[in-house]
Amino acid sequence: MTREERELTFYEAIGGEAAIRSIVEAFYPKVQAHPLLGPLFPEDIMPVMEKQYLFLTQFFGGPPLYSGQYGHPMMRARHLPFPITPERADAWLGCMAEALEETGMERELRLAVLERLKGPAYHFVNTHSNS
Ligand code: HEM
Repeated sequence: MTREERELTFYEAIGGEAAIRSIVEAFYPKVQAHPLLGPLFPEDIMPVMEKQYLFLTQFFGGPPLYSGQYGHPMMRARHLPFPITPERADAWLGCMAEALEETGMERELRLAVLERLKGPAYHFVNTHSNS
């Protein structure tokens, strides 16, 4: 099969490395500014942004960058130290929706990205108390 005949991965379809970098850069300032989300995150957000870049690359079907550095993602387990409520999952997805729009991604692709993140976001809910 030639390169042209091969179907694009989702990672390629959304724009690969550059797109994921822009998403992450647009997303975290919104997370930090959100009253329910900001307090959960460290002041130095750069390491979190880098991990998210590695993870989303892999999650959307690009190279397994996160596992290469940190091993099995076990993302629900990695979120257990933080109180993730349904409201926080909604807020996280809301910030992501805004970030995607800000990157100028086409609507169909934005909806597809959100659809893929919705499952994990609600799966990470581990408490019902926002305090
Ligand atoms: C549901 C709402 C969510 C909340 C409130 C939340 C919150 C957090 C917090 C507080 C951290 C730790 C930051 C730190 O101190 O290092 C974190 C890490 C992370 N989150 Fe989330 N998160 C959510 C959903 C998601 C989703 C849906 C994904 C991707 C599918 C995701 C991917 C990650 C990754 C890759 C890390 C870094 C993990 C590591 O330490 O290696 N998160 N998240």
